Amino acid sequence: MRIITTIKEMKTEVRDLKSIGKRIGFVPTMGYLHEGHLSLVRKSLAASDVTVVSIFVNPTQFGPAEDFKQYPRDRERDTQILDEMGVDIVFFPESEKMYPEGYKTYVELPELQTKLCGRSRPGHFRGICTVVLKLFHIIQPDKAFFGQKDAQQAIILNKMVKDLNMDVAIEVLPIVRDSDGLALSSRNAYLDEREREAALSLWRSLGTARAMIERGERDAKKILQEIRGIIHQEPRARIDYAEIVDTEELNPLSRVEGEALIALAVYIGGVRLIDNILV
Ligand code: PAJ
Repeated sequence: MRIITTIKEMKTEVRDLKSIGKRIGFVPTMGYLHEGHLSLVRKSLAASDVTVVSIFVNPTQFGPAEDFKQYPRDRERDTQILDEMGVDIVFFPESEKMYPEGYKTYVELPELQTKLCGRSRPGHFRGICTVVLKLFHIIQPDKAFFGQKDAQQAIILNKMVKDLNMDVAIEVLPIVRDSDGLALSSRNAYLDEREREAALSLWRSLGTARAMIERGERDAKKILQEIRGIIHQEPRARIDYAEIVDTEELNPLSRVEGEALIALAVYIGGVRLIDNILV
């Protein structure tokens, strides 16, 4: 596996690969890899000639009071895992090169970035779109792989790629969960034993919502009431949002008809966790 740390070297490598007709699969991550990330890597390995994984804790997607500094990092372990999986290139861009002094260009989707997670994380999706667009320009992937875990991110990036006429196909893969249902997340590392227990209320409430819908319930208000009730039973849990929205505009639905996204963000102690289901 090649380890590349400069944008220049990455671009040269991409040019060489393209010149011999290789199809590039790309998995952008912030590292501290778990099975959720690895499911994307496996898919890319199966679908592409060459797989590039980037690891970059992107400062522009963290708010000033958020966990950018504490965000878990383990470069050595991540590198070893990717090497063993047969990844071709791991790209560790340097922050000073991605955002040199005087950096000024940002990408925004004002109507989508202020909803759901964007309400409590202003600037979050602006940072994500900007870094992903930059990485797409550097790596020029034919295909890029994202997780349904970050449903809003996937919807926004799909729209960005479409609106900007980019030649990259985005594939969104299902949420990988622990055996007890907790969606894997690098931030789960922050949870102590009791908090982890409390965190299961997210998945429990989504399971109940799905069962209600399967029984014919269509009233979004009633479903959300049930979800909130289940989460409120956990004294350690505080809901940031619980919403049922359409999957294009992310607007709240009053009735669950057609495709709907049920999305949650819940603070467990000081840790903000997200989860969702598509129905
Ligand atoms: P990160 O949180 O490291 O996630 C990288 C990719 O892994 C994202 O596409 C995310 O949706 C996916 N992922 C995370 N947990 C998952 C799970 N349990 N099951 C399936 N997929 C999962 O998302 C980011 O990084 C950043 O915003 C990034 C796109 C890299 C831009 O900085």
